[in-house]
Amino acid sequence: MKNLKSLALVAVMAIATVMSAFAKDKPDVYILATGGTIAGTGASAVASGYTAGQVAIESLISAVPHLRDLANITGEQIVSIGSQDMNDQVWLTLAKRINELLASDDIDGIVITHGTDTMEETAYFLNLTVHSNKPVVLTGAMRPSTALSADGPLNLYNAVATAASPSAKDRGVMVVMNGLILGAHGTQKMNTLSVQTFQDPDGGPLGYVYNSEPRWNLCTLKKHTTQSVFDVTNLDVLPKVGIVYSYSNVDADVMSPFLNPANGYQGVIHAGVGNGNIHKNIFPALDQARAQGIAVVRSSRLPTGPTTLYDEVDDEAHQFVASWELNPQKARVLLMLGLTKTHDWKELQKYFDEY
Ligand code: SIN
Repeated sequence: MKNLKSLALVAVMAIATVMSAFAKDKPDVYILATGGTIAGTGASAVASGYTAGQVAIESLISAVPHLRDLANITGEQIVSIGSQDMNDQVWLTLAKRINELLASDDIDGIVITHGTDTMEETAYFLNLTVHSNKPVVLTGAMRPSTALSADGPLNLYNAVATAASPSAKDRGVMVVMNGLILGAHGTQKMNTLSVQTFQDPDGGPLGYVYNSEPRWNLCTLKKHTTQSVFDVTNLDVLPKVGIVYSYSNVDADVMSPFLNPANGYQGVIHAGVGNGNIHKNIFPALDQARAQGIAVVRSSRLPTGPTTLYDEVDDEAHQFVASWELNPQKARVLLMLGLTKTHDWKELQKYFDEY
């Protein structure tokens, strides 16, 4: 009996020794590259004029050797585009690839390099379609890689520092830019030129990166990632949803493309004035959309504040959905995913209440 016990002890110690020999020295962070200004090049280091998406992921990684101090790094080029050309196919590819990678015990976090123009939309799409609590971080740059004081290298470093940190788990998809960590639900590109362009004007940043470590101040109560019901695993296309922008004297003919069944729209986001208010010229066209079975979501062209239910507009009577804090471009993302589950406007409203 005593011999058996000693044998078992020796076996346990041997297994522990082998396991510690294979234990990770550093987290494994996988970088998925899509292009953007972070991968942009231009002839001049000081003047405007450059082309986005020119530098491959291997060069971006080797330009920041300090990344290897933070994590074991692997890079993969998904596409090389300016994010003004972002599309549903790239979103579906990213969501599927990230879910596949994060299902592996070998990967601890994901960084996506991305143009800044539509980064907030991609971040919110992934926030709803990645089903893992491991960190997923988007980053980019406002200045191309060839510019003086290019912001890409430090942004990439801070993004990897965040993705490598166990403290970044369960926080939803994040954007890390200019030292700030922002949640996908609230972050917006606010300035056409400034490196301090990403802000969350209603909620504030989740935290910031200091000395290679994320430091946290807030967490979101909106549903995301592991709580999300949206599953794109078996989808190759997404429901078509467009945005119509309101302004003084707007004419109902701006709605014509949405009402033409040949165009295949299943939903329209109305970027209204004020609290999502609707010009009398366009109201009948939005009612017509509902009569044709097209979902209508009221959002606002204002950068801050919610578009609330049942304020100046009787949403119940018109079967309109209110977007709450989501701006028009993010309301479009949620409506596309919502329409993969239901066309019932009250069910769609619940998604906008929760996500
Ligand atoms: C883009 O979004 O790809 C161009 C602009 C940028 O990355 O800052």
